[in-house]
Amino acid sequence: MGTGYLLANILTDIKPVLDKLFLVTGTDFTCYRPNTIRRRINRRVAATGSSSLQSYANNLDSLPGEYNLLLSSLTIKYTMFFRDPWVYSILESYLKKIIGPARSAPVTIWSAACSTGEEAYSLAALLYSLTGAGHPGARVAGTDIDPEAIKYASYGSYAKVMPSSIPQTPWSKYFIDRPNAIEPWQILRHMVEFMPMDLLSKSAPFLLANIFPGGCDVIFCRNVLIYMNREAQARVLSLCADMLRPNGLLVLGTGETVPRPSALALEMINSKARIFRKITKREALPCSADLLSKSSSYWGSAL
Ligand SMILES: C[S@@+](CC[C@H](N)C(=O)[O-])C[C@H]1O[C@@H](n2cnc3c(N)ncnc32)[C@H](O)[C@@H]1O
Repeated sequence: MGTGYLLANILTDIKPVLDKLFLVTGTDFTCYRPNTIRRRINRRVAATGSSSLQSYANNLDSLPGEYNLLLSSLTIKYTMFFRDPWVYSILESYLKKIIGPARSAPVTIWSAACSTGEEAYSLAALLYSLTGAGHPGARVAGTDIDPEAIKYASYGSYAKVMPSSIPQTPWSKYFIDRPNAIEPWQILRHMVEFMPMDLLSKSAPFLLANIFPGGCDVIFCRNVLIYMNREAQARVLSLCADMLRPNGLLVLGTGETVPRPSALALEMINSKARIFRKITKREALPCSADLLSKSSSYWGSAL
């Protein structure tokens, strides 16, 4: 019995919903952990007063705004400013080397699944502290699959009820404590741009080549791979590796890894902080089957 058959069975009940969502939004959630996805679809079933999953699927087209709400509710957006502050301290020491004493070339950072933007602004604060005002091309781009999260991030004002109380770091001074919200300095807001993007879409490499014509110095792709199956993880990691400049850094979440770094021309330089450096050449052309057979499984425990 192949895994395709098993997967089809696991997804049978939610597949009509996922198929419709794919047709309308182009986002394929069949490569996410089925249990999480099912739980969250069931929340939408209840929220819309639908009598069953099947009736929800049948009525999706006529429920106003439901595709957007569904898309938004399927992803977990937990985040915070300077999440794992020690990772930022370690990154700072590497970034200093990348930027060097007199680097005038652009310094670019991509926050690849930035949720509501706290990560992107934190990275902008770190970058600003190293490059100062007026550095040409010190830029951070934040992308996320959820357009609502991106809208919130672009607005750049964080109500205190959110899990956004800022851990004290050397960079927390770049945030203003307003009566009802925390806001990044204006200069950070000028350094950061946000846009919606699905890391698994076919258009992602083209969009990124447009945003970062010279590639990225640092990619933060933290706490998103854990929700995907191994094939999707391999695609996202390959995309990140392709977008890095030589010596550029890929930073993953503390529960995430690259199964075979050398196949993507990466080497792990800090195992605790999950930081990988781009080396010049790939060991071999990436072959997803090879990556899959050697990777550790996040997927097994999800089923
Ligand atoms: C748990 S948050 C992580 C936020 C931040 N990186 C952090 O570590 O705090 C996961 C984010 O990944 C986003 N996401 C999930 N699948 C995605 C995809 N295919 N493309 C882009 N973003 C995705 C979700 O919308 C969510 O905002």
